[in-house]
Amino acid sequence: MPEPAAGGPIPRPVPAASGALPAVFRRTVDPAVTGAALVVQEIMTPLEAAWERVHREAARLRPVHLRTLFADDPARFERLSFAFEDLSIDLSKEKLDAAALDALLALARAANVEGRREAMFAGAPVNRTEGRAALHMALRGGAAAPPGDDVEGALADVLAFAEGVRASSVTDVVNIGIGGSDLGPAMATRALSPDHDGPRGHFVSNVDGAHLADTLRRLDPATTLVIIASKTFTTLETMTNARSARAWLGDHAADNLAAVSTDLAACAAFGVPAERVFGFWDWVGGRYSLWGAIGLSLAIAIGASRFRAFLAGAAAMDRHFRDAALEENLPVLLALAGISRRNAMGWPTVALIPYDQRLERFPAYVQQLEMESNGKSVTQDGAPAACATAPVVWGEPGTNAQHSFFQLLHQGTDVIPVDFIAAARPRGADAEHHRLLLANCLAQGAALAFGRPQTEADRSAPHLAFPGDRPSTTILHRELDPFALGRLIALYEHKTVTMGAIWNINSFDQFGVEFGKELAQRLAPVMRGEDGTAAGLHQSTAGLVARIRVLDR
Ligand code: F6P
Repeated sequence: MPEPAAGGPIPRPVPAASGALPAVFRRTVDPAVTGAALVVQEIMTPLEAAWERVHREAARLRPVHLRTLFADDPARFERLSFAFEDLSIDLSKEKLDAAALDALLALARAANVEGRREAMFAGAPVNRTEGRAALHMALRGGAAAPPGDDVEGALADVLAFAEGVRASSVTDVVNIGIGGSDLGPAMATRALSPDHDGPRGHFVSNVDGAHLADTLRRLDPATTLVIIASKTFTTLETMTNARSARAWLGDHAADNLAAVSTDLAACAAFGVPAERVFGFWDWVGGRYSLWGAIGLSLAIAIGASRFRAFLAGAAAMDRHFRDAALEENLPVLLALAGISRRNAMGWPTVALIPYDQRLERFPAYVQQLEMESNGKSVTQDGAPAACATAPVVWGEPGTNAQHSFFQLLHQGTDVIPVDFIAAARPRGADAEHHRLLLANCLAQGAALAFGRPQTEADRSAPHLAFPGDRPSTTILHRELDPFALGRLIALYEHKTVTMGAIWNINSFDQFGVEFGKELAQRLAPVMRGEDGTAAGLHQSTAGLVARIRVLDR
């Protein structure tokens, strides 16, 4: 398959700014013609024309320093800041202006973002490769569920069980799951620690036995509830950990095991009594599943009413995403800034820096959300993607990140756009600490964007120079309570889906992780030393197997 282009989607000559060709025409050069290039005019599709406009705006803005963009427009902050309720996104420090944003909005329309959004909310099989809907919004009241699927009844069962556990003698809850069956509840339980008044929560995901051993070491099987969370109930890591945890529970397994899955028969076969099995539906993707039964460990930690507030926050964002015009639609605007960064400017990574210690797992959560959803090289129709798709998403909380990798963000050779996330108010934490936290957050955004004017010292010692012109988006809300967290997660979900729609890729499958899983299954008997299983291994794998055997002797 041909490599997709590194930057923008249409690696072809762009008409000069003077407008030598109308926007609906493109120029192609016939490679067969040497010497004087043959210029052919052909009609562009509206989508191609929209992409070309985006690239033209980016080419205009690329050499203009952010300092100049602000100097030229005293209303730039108001013009490029957008709000929904107390949540705002400030795009003024992105390499955008009104004309560039306009071009991006036209691209969203040409890519039929509105139609695709409606199809998703209506329950159409937008996950085409698997023939499924993507209706995670229905788990939180943000969309209608398919007829016959009793979402409210299922949620009531989960929350009643959660309240029962909270009222019982259970002291610890261990959620065993991986990927979407781990990152969501683990991230949200950490984020909502001021609301955590239920039993202690633990999350075991890695098949590395150290993860389970280190978690169970201090726990008592008599007072520990183990939840096996797996959409498929087949995932190697989860099922291996589940079997070991069941053995550790011993006689208590009959009372202290629960399961969450779409495969109720597999849960029963594993020995989990039906009254402690909580189902969901194949129209919920793993990385979008936190809102239903996969959120059981979170519901036990914070209780039913706060869990419902968490869902309400996400549903508020669903309504905003579905109803607001693209011009004021926060997930769409965030996605368009992402398209500008990735395709128009050609920046391959994004740093996600919450100035909120309790969001320390949020970058990992968004990493799965964006990279598993949009890390694709083929379109919905199976054709090679015409442009770069998901960027690498990574990050750590500020201020810690300032003292580890921010050096590279400020003075490294790559431009790495940053998403800053901060709350105006602390929750259960010192107000002066919070003021310093926010001061740091704002200082970093300003230093990245504007740099420092060169002094005489900088001129003679270039390593002191702060060039600036490095973009960031600042996402602000009042405080990180359950409602705000639900809304923030849904903001990133819909941003991800919008980017996938513009790239015309399926944001709901994940075939890229299947092959590695298959190979691991084949290598498991090799690692056990079972006879004949090592035959036919690739020489590098065989060499490493031999070395492991020597080291393990
Ligand atoms: O890593 C791939 C993946 O399929 C994720 O999409 C999913 O969240 C995770 O594995 C866990 O899957 P399951 O919930 O079926 O155990």
